[in-house]
Formats: sequence, C-alpha cells, structure tokens
Amino acid sequence: MADPVDDVDHVFTKPELFNLPLQKNEDRRKVDEDRRKVDEDRRRVYSDIIVQYANGRQIDILEIGVYTGNVLKGLLNYSPSTIKTYTGVDPYIGDETDPYFRSYWKSQTSEAEQQYKRTRAFFRQHNAALIRKKSEDFFEASQYMYDVVIIDGDHRLQPTIKDLRAGLNALRPGGLLVCDDYGNSDTPEVTRAVCKFVDEASESFDASGYRPIWFVNAGKPAPIQLTVIYWRKKVD
Ligand SMILES: C[S@@+](CC[C@H](N)C(=O)[O-])C[C@H]1O[C@@H](n2cnc3c(N)ncnc32)[C@H](O)[C@@H]1O
Repeated sequence: MADPVDDVDHVFTKPELFNLPLQKNEDRRKVDEDRRKVDEDRRRVYSDIIVQYANGRQIDILEIGVYTGNVLKGLLNYSPSTIKTYTGVDPYIGDETDPYFRSYWKSQTSEAEQQYKRTRAFFRQHNAALIRKKSEDFFEASQYMYDVVIIDGDHRLQPTIKDLRAGLNALRPGGLLVCDDYGNSDTPEVTRAVCKFVDEASESFDASGYRPIWFVNAGKPAPIQLTVIYWRKKVD
C-alpha cells in the first residue's frame, strides 16, 4: 500500500478531506457565490426560527440593523403570512463615525446612502417600515411592543448590551429576542455583551435556543461560524 503522505493521487481522491482550495480566494465570482450562499443560509435560519416561533400566528417583528433587508426577504419567500408588521431600524451613516466604516461602506458615505435607498424601496414595496435612526434614538422614542426583536446593529460592547436590554423591554410577554453574531470571532464584543446580558436578564426568560451559521469572509482561507441565539420572554 502506498504511503498516503507520498501519494499525490490521495489529494485528488479525497475531496471531502482536502476541501479547501490552495490559492487564496480572490475570484470575484466565487466570492459573490459564497456571499449568496451565506445570505440564503441566513434567510433559511431566520425564517425557520421566526415561523416556528409564530406557530401560525401573524406577528409584529422589529429588526435592529437591516443592511440589505435579507431577513425580510427570507420571510417573504418562506412564509409571508407570518408577518403582521415588519419594522427595520438602521441609520445607514457611512462616515468615520459609523461602526461599519471601511467594512460595509468602503469609506464613502454615498454607499450607505445608496444602500438606504435600495432597502427603503424594497421595504415600501412590501408595506414594511424602514426607520433611518440609530437604535438608541429609536428605542427612546418608540412605545410599540413586538413579538420578535432581532438585534444585529452596532456590534460594539456597550451598544450591543443596550440593544439587548431595550429589545427585551420592547417585547410583549412571550415574545422572542434574537441576537446575531454570538461566537463570531470577527465580532468578539457581541459575545461578551451576550454573556453579560444573560447574567443579568436570565430571570426574564423561560426558554432559549440557538442556530449556527457557517460563513466565509472574502479573502479568508477557511469558513468560520457564528451563532444566532434567542430567548423567549416570560409570560408571568
Ligand atoms: C450586520 S448588518 C445587518 C444585517 C442584517 N440584519 C441581515 O441579517 O442581513 C449591520 C447593520 O447595522 C447598522 N447599524 C450600525 N449602527 C447601528 C445602530 N446604532 N443602530 C441600528 N443599526 C445600526 C449598519 O448600518 C448595518 O447596516
């Protein structure tokens, strides 16, 4: 038997073992394809959580941090009748004060402006509300209560903790608080914020769950994972 270490064919006959390309992935089409696949996975995971939770009811949903509106796209695709109302909150700032400066927005405020207009048109088309505000300003001014609140905005420590607390307050009894990016090594402050929040708020919940999502960032050598974590607010 040939020694696998010396056997060149071994590399080609074991694609499940050698499942990464040797070259850094800079092919634009492949990067776009990976992006589309991650977006589709995210739509499926979010829709599955929300539709299972709703259990046939029509519900009011709030999403903090909207970007392209991918979560709404998923729900419209998988189960539009679940949506009673859908509200998105995102400031689309785009300048150096924006936590996504030089990541989502390549240092041009016009990119954030254009994305806002595209997402706004999509929301309008489906009777959803897109509010161009920072979450803290939105929560301060809003009196509405929701069945589902999704936290996926500013991923720094204090803003994430504040969003989790305010999201919990804006939930009806029995409502579902959903947080993206727990355990994502690119956003470690979200993980810290979730741990702190769970320590202080665990008495407020009667059930929780999680879903992992794999993704690969452009130009990075291997996929990593994030966890969507969610809690049901006690009915008391
Ligand atoms: C990770 S993306 C959201 C992705 C979206 N939830 C999805 O699943 O497709 C983060 C978004 O948060 C927005 N954002 C940044 N600061 C924010 C804040 N203070 N309040 C609300 N959204 C914020 C950014 O403009 C960006 O569009």
